[in-house]
Amino acid sequence: METVRDAGRILLEKLGRVNISKKGEINLVTEADLASEALIIERIRSHYPRHSILAEEAGDAVIIGDGDSSKWIIDPLDGTTNYAHGYPCFCVTIALEHDGKIVLGVTYDPTRDELFAAEKGRGATLNGKPIRVSKAETLRDALIVTGFPYDFKTKPQFVKHFTDFLMESRGVRRDGSAAIDMAYVACGRFDGFWEEGLNPWDVAAGKLLIEEAGGVVSYYDGSPFSIYRPPILASNGTIHNAMISVLS
Ligand code: IPD
Ligand code: CA
Ligand code: CA
Repeated sequence: METVRDAGRILLEKLGRVNISKKGEINLVTEADLASEALIIERIRSHYPRHSILAEEAGDAVIIGDGDSSKWIIDPLDGTTNYAHGYPCFCVTIALEHDGKIVLGVTYDPTRDELFAAEKGRGATLNGKPIRVSKAETLRDALIVTGFPYDFKTKPQFVKHFTDFLMESRGVRRDGSAAIDMAYVACGRFDGFWEEGLNPWDVAAGKLLIEEAGGVVSYYDGSPFSIYRPPILASNGTIHNAMISVLS
């Protein structure tokens, strides 16, 4: 929690002053992503030199450490496009996987000073106070959120899902940070979330946050979800079957 707060401080200090590079046609990286990630990796290595690390900017190759069964999964800046445009919706998100299970997850939004944290079997909190998923009972009464994958042009089914949810729900949002979207499902601001092409670092903390807050995370057909393989469907649990129907 201390580390995500420190990394979040770096993001705020650099907001509006960074050079932006392109990783793909619309996929950006900034000096802030790199500075935040460097701080987090340095901090983890100083405390847990034997643990593995999977960090977005360093890539898969950066699984450092000696194969210890503990792995830290890091997105140093989730919402880079928002960040590059000064749109205040971005976060730092870190999870710890132990023996293949996510056991810790933290997501920190520095612009609102909101820290979401979960520990397996011990619940989820927002700034230290327990959180629960929403009580929405029907899709008609639900506010749903999604994200557009960077390669959405190759995923035509995305547009159909988007239109169908728009027709069936109270509203659909797209905020540009999957980790914040999932934290908001955990605390009941959103009732459901689906997205096509995410990476482990986008969803690892959010999966635990939602499950510990009483929600459900799965594939589009309801089967058990692995952070290593998209797509993802998450909800308060009550509207899960209705979301599966829309996605099938
Ligand atoms: C992105 C955000 C966005 C999602 C993209 C992600 P980044 O992460 O989570 O909401 O739609 O698919 O890649 O690149 O800002 O860390
Ligand atoms: Ca991300
Ligand atoms: Ca990122």
